[in-house]
Amino acid sequence: MPVPAPHPDARAVVTGASQNIGEALATELAARGHHLIVTARREEVLTALAARLTERYGVTVEVRAVDLADPAARGAFCDELAGRHVSILCANAGTATFGAVAKLDAQGEKDQVQLNVLGVHDLVLAVLPGMVERRAGGILISGSAAGNSPIPNNATYAATKAFVNTFSESLRGEVKPLGINVTVLAPGPVRTELPDPDEQSLVEKLIPDFLWIDTEYTAKVSLDGLERNKMRVVPGVTSKAMSVASGYAPRSIVTPIVGAVYKKLGGE
Ligand SMILES: NC(=O)c1ccc[n+]([C@@H]2O[C@H](COP(=O)([O-])OP(=O)(O)OC[C@H]3O[C@@H](n4cnc5c(N)ncnc54)[C@H](OP(=O)(O)O)[C@@H]3O)[C@@H](O)[C@H]2O)c1
Repeated sequence: MPVPAPHPDARAVVTGASQNIGEALATELAARGHHLIVTARREEVLTALAARLTERYGVTVEVRAVDLADPAARGAFCDELAGRHVSILCANAGTATFGAVAKLDAQGEKDQVQLNVLGVHDLVLAVLPGMVERRAGGILISGSAAGNSPIPNNATYAATKAFVNTFSESLRGEVKPLGINVTVLAPGPVRTELPDPDEQSLVEKLIPDFLWIDTEYTAKVSLDGLERNKMRVVPGVTSKAMSVASGYAPRSIVTPIVGAVYKKLGGE
């Protein structure tokens, strides 16, 4: 069953819409005629995006500046969504830390779980009853290839993505007969463009150019995948190869190698 067509009363919700994959998802949804609610913490960036999308595609774009790692702010946003006609949810916001958990800021790690896990789970639970009642809806969850296997020095992130990958693929089986599509996006490295060499993060410096996938392409294939109710979208040949390798290679051999690479990403 296709995801619901655009409707003046319906909204497609995109979290983490202020940059990269989330911005590309919001743009692609607007191009397909969907009215939007876009959210992230930086209100001014979202307001500028909303103005651009409304001007270019004639859609209504509502801005919600919400810190999804904050349980109270997230709860208030979920309460609003529960009462709205949400046709599509792109639960995309997520952050990653690199380095040994014992050395990382404990509050930062907890915030990452709040955002990457509960920022997905709570929002899905908020919109699901309405979708079930209408027997229509689309839920796209930004997971990651990082959720496929253990990653020392990226432990919290890998574990949060294992949660959302599994949650998405499990939920899909439950709601398919109810007319609701659920797809997990599980990419390898994705970015909008190569930043100036002086402004590149360590991750961007260490991952070779050919491994990166474009955000626009990622958004298109993700929304096409959701339309067809694909279980998992893995954009690009390199990501697919990485996914297959992590699925079949013995964990005891691969984990220390991967851990050593991520140790470098953590700056050691
Ligand atoms: N890019 C990749 O290579 C890649 C690969 C695999 C999986 N993914 C997953 O895909 C998703 C998007 O990745 P991305 O690279 O586009 O992310 P990104 O560039 O780091 O952007 C993260 C987005 O989340 C928002 N955000 C961060 N903390 C937040 C908070 N506490 N509350 C609300 N919003 C918050 C940010 O906006 P504000 O700063 O304005 O709040 C931003 O819009 C993530 O879930 C990520 O794990 C990405």
